Formats: sequence, C-alpha cells, structure tokens
Amino acid sequence: MKHIPVLLQESVEVLLSGRSFSGERKLIVDATFGGGGHSRCLLERGGGKVAVLAIDRDPAAVGRSAVLEQEFASGFRLLPGNFADLDRILDRAEVKTIDGLLLDIGLSSFQLEAGERGFSFQTDGPLDMRMEPDAGPSAAEIVREFSTAELTRIFREFGEEPYAAAIARKIVAERGQRPLLTTRSLALLIEEMVPDYKKSRRHPATRVFQALRICVNDELGALRKVLQSGLERLNPGGRMVVIAYHSLEDRLVKRFFRAAAKGCICPPRVPVCGCDRVSRVKILQLSGLRPRPEEIEQNPRSRSACLRAIERL
Ligand SMILES: C[S@@+](CC[C@H](N)C(=O)[O-])C[C@H]1O[C@@H](n2cnc3c(N)ncnc32)[C@H](O)[C@@H]1O
Repeated sequence: MKHIPVLLQESVEVLLSGRSFSGERKLIVDATFGGGGHSRCLLERGGGKVAVLAIDRDPAAVGRSAVLEQEFASGFRLLPGNFADLDRILDRAEVKTIDGLLLDIGLSSFQLEAGERGFSFQTDGPLDMRMEPDAGPSAAEIVREFSTAELTRIFREFGEEPYAAAIARKIVAERGQRPLLTTRSLALLIEEMVPDYKKSRRHPATRVFQALRICVNDELGALRKVLQSGLERLNPGGRMVVIAYHSLEDRLVKRFFRAAAKGCICPPRVPVCGCDRVSRVKILQLSGLRPRPEEIEQNPRSRSACLRAIERL
C-alpha cells in the first residue's frame, strides 16, 4: 500500500520559492503529513536550507514519520495533532512564525484502503471514518442517532446530495429493522434506492460517505481555523499552499484567500479611506491549478485536486 503525493512538484516549487524571514533556514509546516511525500520532497529539494515541522491527527500517519526523523534528524519533526489547533501546536513547539504552510487536505490512500477505518464503500468494514480513532462519534453513531432532519442537513450541506431527504428518511426507517454498522450495509441501502445505479459514473453512496466523513471529523471547521491561524503565523514573503479535493473545501479556500487579498473597500467617491482595510496577501494561483493529464493518468485519485496559493505581504 502506498500514497502517491498529488501536485508534488508544483506545490513544493511554490513553497520553496517564497522569501524566508525567520532565519537561515526556511521553516515550513506540512500540516497534513500522511505518507510524508510532500515533507520528503521539501527536505530533499531544500537541501539543508529547509526545516519541516509536520502535523497529522492520524496515529497511523504519525507512525510513518520515524523514517524521515532518522534521515533528516534536526531538519524534521512531527507533532501529532489536529491542524485546527495550529496555534497551540506551534506555541508548544516554541515556534512564533513560519515561512510556509502546506495543507494537502482530505484522506491518504493508506486511510482509504484500510477497510477497518471505514472510509470507503469499496471495501467492507466498520462504519467508523474517524481520522483520530476514539475522538468523537463515529459515522455509525451518527447514522444510528441523528434525526431525519439532522441527517438531511449533513447530506445536503456536506455532500451536496440532491436526494438528501429521501436517503435520510430511508436510513431512519431501516435502522430500527437492521443495524447499519458497516460501510457495505449503508452503501447497499443507498444502492437499493437507485435500481440502475451501475449505469451512473459515480456510485450513489459517494456524496453520503463524503458528508459523513466531513461531519465526523469536522473537516470544514478545522480548515477554517487553520487558514486563519496559518495566515497570522506566516512571515512576510511566506507562502501558504492548499490542495483541496472537493468543491466545498475549494470554495472555502478561494473565498478566504480573496477576502485576505482584498484591500480598501471604501466607495470610490470617498476621498480618504475610512475602512482601514489593507490587503494582507497576494494570490499566486488565481484560478487554481489542476493536475496535468499525465498525473491524472498515473494517479486517478488526483483528478479532483485543485491547488491554491497565497503569499503574505
Ligand atoms: C491527502 S493526505 C496527505 C498526503 C501527504 N501530502 C503525502 O504526500 O503523503 C491528508 C492527511 O492529512 C491528515 N489530516 C486531515 N485532516 C487533518 C487535520 N484536521 N489535522 C491534522 N491532520 C489532518 C490525514 O490524516 C491524512 O493523513
């Protein structure tokens, strides 16, 4: 099992070409360590002039960091935790400012392919989906306990599922008869609602699984927090790169970057600025960068990726 890093050269290039202000070495935070593909490339291409502080909330990812710790000794360190707590993690490591922040959000292939983690309906396993096992309710608990209205809301809000209400009603009607404890049992229930689902490009459970995963891990809440604290921690000239894999996350990133880049919002007829708003960042990838066709062919999981980047002014 392995994870192929997405938009690797493109993201590393953006991070390494920003100016450094924190000292002799650039300090880059890889807040989504996963299999360490981006961290390794940053360290190798940085050639001693880059130190990487990595973060991951998944203990299995944390366990994979030992190789880099040995190989790059003082240049690499992994701190377990949720990137939503970036401020606390950096304070604890006595780091005030950083020169780069990478967020390659979403799931690694390790997580998707580990049936027992319950992220995928392709393999059967417990309906869990927690990136941090034992933290908060699992997907099975949400499916068992949420009301029809609550399920409808999360399927609509986090999955943009057009049949959110019908699927929620079906779950609530069925869960009294048969427990929905596994990924297959939930996928089957949704398949039964769409008799000719095999003809469609996308499995009908895709959106519901995405919605449950986002809800279980509070993925959008964590993203909002890390974007804000990352922006505050970046040195002038420092860069932030975000690779998102679905439109909800990408939209959030795009709006956040646009708002941070916006300067004075006073109407043109006002002679002196009264809003005191100054542009805090320069947007580097205006329309978002997508993987090249060769990358998608080699790694189909990269097909939905979109990279956005900013530089702190
Ligand atoms: C797409 S993978 C990153 C892959 C990595 N860039 C590589 O090349 O191997 C995303 C990783 O981010 C982690 N992750 C997702 N949300 C997180 C959060 N809120 N805090 C910390 N880690 C998170 C996941 O556990 C997963 O390991």
